[in-house]
Amino acid sequence: MKVLVVFAHPSHESFNHALLESLLEGLKEAGHETQVIDLYKDNFNPVIADISGHAELGDDVKAYQEKIKSADVLTFIYPTFWYRAPAMLEGFIDRVITSGFAYKYVNSLPKGLLGDKKAVVIETYGGPSWYYRFLFHRIPWRRFKAVLKFCGIKNIIHQPCYKVPFTTDKVRQKYLDKVRKIGERLK
Ligand SMILES: Cc1cc2nc3c(=O)[nH]c(=O)nc-3n(C[C@H](O)[C@H](O)[C@H](O)COP(=O)(O)O)c2cc1C
Repeated sequence: MKVLVVFAHPSHESFNHALLESLLEGLKEAGHETQVIDLYKDNFNPVIADISGHAELGDDVKAYQEKIKSADVLTFIYPTFWYRAPAMLEGFIDRVITSGFAYKYVNSLPKGLLGDKKAVVIETYGGPSWYYRFLFHRIPWRRFKAVLKFCGIKNIIHQPCYKVPFTTDKVRQKYLDKVRKIGERLK
């Protein structure tokens, strides 16, 4: 399968980058074709400037949309910043996941246009799982998932990694192993 990975962390020294490497190893092992969009490395401009619907899409947006179109699996790897994905990734969604490309309206109801794709979402947190589960109803994850569902993507693998800066190397290694397995077992 063709797997597109959207990576949204500013540092290649980060745990998020280690997760990316683990996933790519697993995907390679399973023989998948992979492509990575590294938003910070690309110096992507996440600020949407015109929502009139008449603006010509930028060349950067067109190129990303082509990559999304040709992928069977869309993967996102990102840290949680202030109860959501980093502004870089939120802006990627604002600018690239456009009407007519990822969804359209039929009789005023939204219809997702990316329903032929699967998604894998790997997100990291500084906080513990109980905090998100019981106090925040998994809000960061549920709103990201809502974007995928809006675009028609139903088949989603989700791997959250909690307490990343505060937990042990053993737990972090467990997350890396899990993510590698996601790549190996992707079907
Ligand atoms: C600007 C900023 C905002 C953050 N906001 C949150 C947050 O809302 N919830 C949380 O659990 N962790 C938050 N964190 C912690 C990061 O999510 C955590 O350090 C990261 O997931 C660890 O991955 P890394 O080692 O690859 O950076 C924040 C970190 C930064 C820099």
